[in-house]
Amino acid sequence: MKIGIIGAGRMGQALAGLFTRAGHDVILSNSRGPESLADIVDEFNGHCSAGTVQEAVDSTDLVFLATPWGKTAAAVSVVENWNGKIVVDTTNNRTAPGPQGVIDIGGRISSEMVAEYIPGARVVKALNITPIHIMATTLAAGADPQHAVYVAGDDDDAKKLVTDLLATIGGVAIDTGDLHTGGALQGMGGALPGDMEMLSVPAAEAKLAAAKS
Ligand SMILES: NC(=O)c1ccc[n+]([C@@H]2O[C@H](COP(=O)([O-])OP(=O)(O)OC[C@H]3O[C@@H](n4cnc5c(N)ncnc54)[C@H](OP(=O)(O)O)[C@@H]3O)[C@@H](O)[C@H]2O)c1
Repeated sequence: MKIGIIGAGRMGQALAGLFTRAGHDVILSNSRGPESLADIVDEFNGHCSAGTVQEAVDSTDLVFLATPWGKTAAAVSVVENWNGKIVVDTTNNRTAPGPQGVIDIGGRISSEMVAEYIPGARVVKALNITPIHIMATTLAAGADPQHAVYVAGDDDDAKKLVTDLLATIGGVAIDTGDLHTGGALQGMGGALPGDMEMLSVPAAEAKLAAAKS
């Protein structure tokens, strides 16, 4: 699969590592332009190139959003037409771990706000829960056992594609519902974040069932 990533910091590079090691091709993009990413893309064994945000969207099968909350709206604003693109939102409305780092969004669902920033895109919320360093060292192509990854979204085909992609990096998608319901469960203040490990599938299913009851 060809994967675009908007944001080439800790999350963007962790995703690039996971996907390139699984045999996918990645376009990484940031705010400073492809030249600024020359050294970084060299680390990914020829499967990663640098592009503009527009190229990361236009030339790929799906796009990951890996920008800080306060910069996300500006990052996606350069794309004129999302044309049904599948966009995996890994962002959180916070500046740092812990409750003091949460950015007040007035009770809204962060991924619903992201969906409003990118009209026409099909948004799936995933990989926003686990700390990056744990995700990057737990998931892996061919991993045994596999680990659970919560996914939320309104479009079943988009969730299916993300489910298939996650399987290639040792992730088992656990569907938390639509962007409103699942987005609330997965988002800051929701019932699902908080573990300092990636859960097994039975543990993740049990946690989701408890959260919904
Ligand atoms: N901390 C965690 O463990 C964790 C876990 C799950 C999810 N997340 C979420 O992951 C997201 C990314 O976090 P991070 O730690 O990877 O951030 P980061 O290291 O600060 O990297 C941010 C990236 O976003 C890019 N960016 C900023 N403004 C941009 C714009 N206008 N257009 C394009 N790219 C832009 C930056 O590029 P420039 O340097 O060129 O500006 C940089 O490459 C956040 O929303 C965070 O909440 C974090």
